[in-house]
Amino acid sequence: MTETEPVAYPQDRTCPYHPPAAYDPLRDARPLTRIRLYDGRPAWLVSGHAVARALLADQRLSTDRTRPGFPVPTERLAAVRNRSIALLGVDDPVHRTQRRMMIPSFTLKSATALRPEIQRIVDERLDAMIGQGPPAELVTAFALPVPSMVICALLGVPYADHDFFEGQSRRLLRGPTAADIQDARDRLDAYFEELIDRKLKQSEPGDGILDELVHQRLRDGTLERGELVSLATILLVAGHETTANMISLGTYALLQHPERLGELRADPTLLPDAVEELMRMLSIADGLLRTATEDIEVGGATIRAGDGVVFATSVINRDEDAYPDPDSLDWHRPARHHVAFGFGIHQCLGQNLARAELEIALRSLFGRLPTLRLAVPADEIPFKPGDTIQGMLELPVTW
Ligand code: HEM
Repeated sequence: MTETEPVAYPQDRTCPYHPPAAYDPLRDARPLTRIRLYDGRPAWLVSGHAVARALLADQRLSTDRTRPGFPVPTERLAAVRNRSIALLGVDDPVHRTQRRMMIPSFTLKSATALRPEIQRIVDERLDAMIGQGPPAELVTAFALPVPSMVICALLGVPYADHDFFEGQSRRLLRGPTAADIQDARDRLDAYFEELIDRKLKQSEPGDGILDELVHQRLRDGTLERGELVSLATILLVAGHETTANMISLGTYALLQHPERLGELRADPTLLPDAVEELMRMLSIADGLLRTATEDIEVGGATIRAGDGVVFATSVINRDEDAYPDPDSLDWHRPARHHVAFGFGIHQCLGQNLARAELEIALRSLFGRLPTLRLAVPADEIPFKPGDTIQGMLELPVTW
C-alpha cells in the first residue's frame, strides 16, 4: 500500500465516462488506500481489481446501512440511512432468502424470453422519436422510457404512473436534502401499498413479478408486506435508473469514439462484447459501500472491524494489471470480469436483463439512425454529479 494524502470522496467526473481526474492518486495507490468522506471521517478505498473481487466476495463486509461505520458519501444520505433496503441493504441469511425468491425471474433464460418485448418497446420509442424529430433529447425520448417500460412490464407496475415513479426515483437517488429523499421514499412506499391492495383485490393475478409475490408469498405468509414494499421499490428504482444512464452515457461515449462505432456498425456481432466493454469503461455505479464486521488483512493493510470500505468501480475497472491500456475503449479485450455490476452475493440481480436491454437499444438506435450525432458541442452537455449513478442529464441529438 502506498501512503498518500487522503483524497476527498466522492468527486465529480470531469469527463462523463472517465473517473474524476481527482482520483488519479487513488489509481497510483492500488490496491487500497485511505479516503476522506464529506464529514471528515476516513474510510478505505479499494482500487485494485483482484483485491476488489476478493473483498466483494468476503462475508466479513456488510451492506447494512444502519451499522455505525457505514461509509455514507453525503450528508443528505447519512440522514436517511436508518431506512432498511431489501436485497442491497441486508446481509445473509435474510439476503439469501430474498435473493432466492427473486432469482427465477432474473435468469439468463428469463432475460432471453423478454427480448421480443424489449425490441417491441425499443422500436415503438424510436418510431415516436423519429416521427417528432430531428432533433431530439435522447434521455426523455428514449434512454429513460425504454428501461422504465421494460421494468413496468416485468414487475406488473402500470407504466401510466411513470412520471410519478421516475420523479420519485430521481429524488431518492439525488434529492437536494435528506427531507426530500425521505419524502420520496415515503411516497414510493405509499404507492406500492396501494398497488398491493389493488392486486390483492384482483381475482386473477396479472403476470408481473409483484402479482406473483402478492398472490403467493404474501397470501401464504412467506413474505411480509413491508418487505414486499421494500423489494418492489429497489426493483423498480434499480431496474430503470441504472439502465437509462447506461443507454445515455453509452450513446454519448460511442459518438465520441467514431472509429469504435464504425467498427460496431461494420460487424454487429461485436455488440455483446461492446456492451461489456462499455460497462467496464463507464462504471456508472461508481462507489459500492460496505462496513467491515471483523478485522481483515488484505493488500498489506489491516481493515479494522467497523471501518468503512468503498469500492470505486471506475478505478477498479481500469486496473492495468487486469486491463492493459485501460483508458481506451476496445471491443476485442475480454472485459467480462469487470465489477461494474458488483461481485459476490450482491452482484446485480438484473444484469442479464440490463445486458439484453443495452444490446437491443444500442443496436436499434444506431441501426435506425446511421447519421446520429450530438446536436450541440459535447462540452455543453450536462451530466450527473459524482455522488449518484453516473449518466447524462440530457443528451441533445440530431440525425
Ligand atoms: C446497466 C444497468 C445496471 C447497472 C450498472 C447495475 C449495477 C449494479 C451494481 C453495481 C450492483 C451491486 C451493488 C453493491 O454491491 O453494492 C447492483 C445490484 C442490484 N441491481 Fe443492478 N444494475 C443495473 C441494472 C439493474 C436492473 C435492470 C435491475 C432490475 C431489477 C437491477 C437490480 C439490482 C438489484 C435488485 C440489486 C441488489 C442485488 C442484491 O443485493 O442481491 N439492476 N446493480
